[in-house]
Amino acid sequence: MPGEKTSANLLEGYVGEAQAAIRLKIYAEKAEDEGYPGIARLFRTISESEEIHARNNLRLTAMVKDTETNLSDSLSREEKIAGVKYGEFITAAEEEGESAAVTMFTYARDVEESHAKLYEKALGHLIAEEVPDYYVCGVCGYVADAIVPDKCPICGAPGEKFFEVE
Ligand code: FE2
Ligand code: FE2
Ligand code: FE2
Repeated sequence: MPGEKTSANLLEGYVGEAQAAIRLKIYAEKAEDEGYPGIARLFRTISESEEIHARNNLRLTAMVKDTETNLSDSLSREEKIAGVKYGEFITAAEEEGESAAVTMFTYARDVEESHAKLYEKALGHLIAEEVPDYYVCGVCGYVADAIVPDKCPICGAPGEKFFEVE
């Protein structure tokens, strides 16, 4: 395990670089919308580079463990975010009349709950050879297990909005 300061710096580096990677992807979409395909490509390229930095930082932290522990850590994170954080976010957004944020936070909370169930199921039968099919809703992030639904049960998007994950 790295020293105390380096451990904290690796975490900070990971968080900052991961945020930059996503931020630049959204900036790229915005640049496409505004008619700057060259700038969009620049943002996408630097996003890829920042992702490499995020991964390189994270790999040296103590956060990456064996798969069974990674599953149970992921399960606890989902339960915490679905059961605590998003509930607080929804209440605050309702108080401020931010209806778009209320909808988005609600979708996210419900999807996190389903992530927790998927992790629980996977922990229940940790079989190396089993490779299930999963499909993700491109609108709200809902994960369908084995079959693409006609309509997303969380946001109502049609089945065509789902993509398969290899
Ligand atoms: Fe970077
Ligand atoms: Fe999640
Ligand atoms: Fe959805």
